[in-house]
Amino acid sequence: MNETLANKESPQHSPRVFSGVQPTANIHLGNYLGAIKRFVSVQHEMESLFCVVDLHAITMPQDPKKLAAQTREIAAAYLAAGIDPEKSIIFVQSSVSAHAELAWLLNCVARMGWLERMTQFKDKSGENSERMSVGLFDYPVLMAADILAYKATHVPVGDDQKQHLELARDIAQRFNSDFKAKGFFPQPEPLIGAEASRIMNLQDGTKKMSKSDAAENSRINLTDDAEQISKKLKRAKTDLFPMPDDVAELKARPEVDNLIGIYAALAEITKEAVVKEFAGLGFGAFKPKLADLAVDKLSPISAEMRKFMADPTQIDKILEKGAIRAREIAMPILQETKNLIGFWGAD
Ligand code: TRP
Repeated sequence: MNETLANKESPQHSPRVFSGVQPTANIHLGNYLGAIKRFVSVQHEMESLFCVVDLHAITMPQDPKKLAAQTREIAAAYLAAGIDPEKSIIFVQSSVSAHAELAWLLNCVARMGWLERMTQFKDKSGENSERMSVGLFDYPVLMAADILAYKATHVPVGDDQKQHLELARDIAQRFNSDFKAKGFFPQPEPLIGAEASRIMNLQDGTKKMSKSDAAENSRINLTDDAEQISKKLKRAKTDLFPMPDDVAELKARPEVDNLIGIYAALAEITKEAVVKEFAGLGFGAFKPKLADLAVDKLSPISAEMRKFMADPTQIDKILEKGAIRAREIAMPILQETKNLIGFWGAD
C-alpha cells in the first residue's frame, strides 16, 4: 500500500474512494469542477467507486418518467469526463440493496440531535420542514451508509458536503463503540479541492450554480454545445470596474470571483495567477478568453457525453457490471455489520 495515501486515523483500512452525484436534471459545470473532475484524477491513486445516487434524489419529488434517463445522464457524464469503467466501479445506488439496508442499521445509531444540526436540511426545507419527506431529513444517514458500506477511507466532496461527512464520521465512531468493534468502520476523510469546489450562479454570485434554477443562463450544462457555453459566459454578470489586481478584492465582487475561479479551475492554475494575467483589463478582454478556454475544455466532454447518451445499452452494461462489483464489496461488510448487531442467523 502507498503509505502517503493511507487514511491517518484508520491506517488499518486500505485506501478506497467513494463518491456520488444525484441524478437530478441539468448536470452542470459546478458538478464537473466541484466533483467529477476530481473523481477522474483520484481513480489513478486508489480503488474508487462512483455512484449515481438515485435513492438520494427521491428525497425530493422526481418524475418517474425521467428518473432512469437522468441516471444514465450522470453515468454518461462520469464516462465522458474520463472515469474508466474497467478501473473504477460506476454503478447506481438503488441497484445495490446494501445502501438502503445499512442506512436502516445506521438510523438506529445516529441521534436526532445530530441530524437536527444539518444546515443543508434547514436550507432545503426552510419554513416548510413539516412538509418535507422523512427521507430528506434522513439524507445524511443514507450518505453515511453509502460510504461505510464499502469502508471507504476517502471521499471527494464539495465544500457543502463537509458537514455530512463529519456526521458519517460520528456515526462510524458511535457504531464502533456501541458494538465494541474498535476500528470496524474507518473514519472517512474528505478530499476537498483547492480551487472551485464551489461554482456559483452566473447571474448571481451569492448563490450556488444549481440544477434547479429556472434561468438557463445561470449555469453551464455539461450537455451545452460550444455556442451555448460561449454565449452564457459572455453574458455572465460582472460589474463596472476593471479586472482586479489583487485577489483580496474578490471578496466584495462575488460574480467576478466566480468567473476567475472557473478560469483557474479549468486552466488548473491558482486564482492569483489569473488575477495577475488580467489585472486592470476590462471584461471585454477577459470574457472571450474565458469562453475560449471553457469551450476548449468542456466541448469534448459534452460531445462525448452526447455520444454515450445515444447508446443507452452500452451505459446499462457498464452499470450492471458496476453493480455486481459493488455488491461483492458491500455484501460481506453488511453481513459483518449485522453479525456485530447480533441478529438471528448470525449467532
Ligand atoms: N450528498 C452528495 C451531494 O449532494 C451526494 C452523495 C450521496 C455523496 N452519497 C454520497 C457524496 C457519498 C459522497 C459520498 O453532493
